[in-house]
Amino acid sequence: MTRPFIIGFGGTTRAGSSSEKLVRAVLTACENEGAQTRLFDGAFLARLPHYAPEKPERTVEQREFVEAVRQCNGLVIGTPAYHGGISGLVKNALDLLEDLRGDPRVYFDDCPVGLVVSAAGWQGTGITLSALRDMVHAMRGWPTPIGISVNTLAGPLFDASGAITEPQLDATIAGQASQIMRFTSAFRGPQVLKGAA
Ligand SMILES: Cc1cc2nc3c(=O)[nH]c(=O)nc-3n(C[C@H](O)[C@H](O)[C@H](O)COP(=O)(O)O)c2cc1C
Repeated sequence: MTRPFIIGFGGTTRAGSSSEKLVRAVLTACENEGAQTRLFDGAFLARLPHYAPEKPERTVEQREFVEAVRQCNGLVIGTPAYHGGISGLVKNALDLLEDLRGDPRVYFDDCPVGLVVSAAGWQGTGITLSALRDMVHAMRGWPTPIGISVNTLAGPLFDASGAITEPQLDATIAGQASQIMRFTSAFRGPQVLKGAA
């Protein structure tokens, strides 16, 4: 069996984006369990044009992103809480994945999806994670039972080198990665759900 291909996308354009670091950490934990990974970070997502349903033209980067999702066996999506929901940057990337609607594997069918939220307050953590989980359900994905949400005001999460300083958070990241990897081995290969909306 080939190594599972797990892609991550998300983060913000801010230098030192915490949501991006967390997505990267989950991908690294997946690599430790044998995955190949690719990260589409905040800077990459910022280069994707605003999705417009009536425009079929695609930039090189839009094609690259859609093709990676088409090929992947699992995903990690990370967003900040912006005004009680996911950021426009991440939503724009999700909307572009409408290009997968007509595929043999529609959207995120058969894919485990690890979800990561970074907020500056407790209220934003829960509601944004829940909103993102609903979006992934709408796109036929399988959010892992372990979601990651952090309140950046509750204390420092990273040291100067970017390493995670919270042992509990480290364990949660490893747990999410493990669930992604276990799910990919159970569901490898595209299977289309007949009759599903
Ligand atoms: C436009 C904007 C809206 C925000 N709205 C919320 C919010 O509703 N709730 C919250 O807890 N934090 C909110 N925040 C704070 C961010 O979620 C928080 O700083 C997050 O950690 C940023 O992620 P990053 O480190 O990946 O850039 C907002 C920040 C910005 C810039």
